[in-house]
Amino acid sequence: MTMKKINAFEQGEAILKTLSKGAFLTTAADGKQNTMTIGWGSLGFKWGQPTFTVMVRQSRYTKELIDANPEFTVSFPVKEGFAQALGLCGSKSGRDLDKFAAAGLTTKAGETVSVPVIKGCGLHLECKIVEHYTMAEDKFDKELCEKWYANKDWHTCYTGIITAAYVEE
Ligand SMILES: Cc1cc2nc3c(=O)[nH]c(=O)nc-3n(C[C@H](O)[C@H](O)[C@H](O)COP(=O)(O)O)c2cc1C
Repeated sequence: MTMKKINAFEQGEAILKTLSKGAFLTTAADGKQNTMTIGWGSLGFKWGQPTFTVMVRQSRYTKELIDANPEFTVSFPVKEGFAQALGLCGSKSGRDLDKFAAAGLTTKAGETVSVPVIKGCGLHLECKIVEHYTMAEDKFDKELCEKWYANKDWHTCYTGIITAAYVEE
């Protein structure tokens, strides 16, 4: 398997369409690694560079790792065969089990970050975080806030500069 560098914007449609069905947000710190399913995110252009923003609730184990090491990868399963793994990684916490082993996922070292990508997904972004903020009630539409944050489990938005983008061939 070889990795072919891509322009993330040229794959923008594939990235966003796949994301809406579920992608893997992988994090690593202090010798531990974890992945969780995400369905939200934004591909963007900020500070003169391509960026990707992920949204992580306070309660996630992922938040502990991303706060300890400000890097992440997102692996987009543009290929078939990841539905079960997306289900498991979106419902179990890495605090309780090794999700890579449980879901039969294998990893490959990142090229520009100390976080791996998930082999076989087909499309990957590597990101270094340059900005993050936690959502706050006073800045929200009231209805949306009540719908999504009744329990105050706010999302923190982490924006990373895309340091590598590639597809598997
Ligand atoms: C389709 C799908 C999309 C999800 N999107 C997000 C998301 O964008 N942000 C988030 O914090 N949790 C999201 N979740 C929930 C987490 O994946 C889930 O709580 C996971 O068990 C957290 O794992 P962790 O504790 O190992 O970090 C999503 C779950 C599913 C099934």
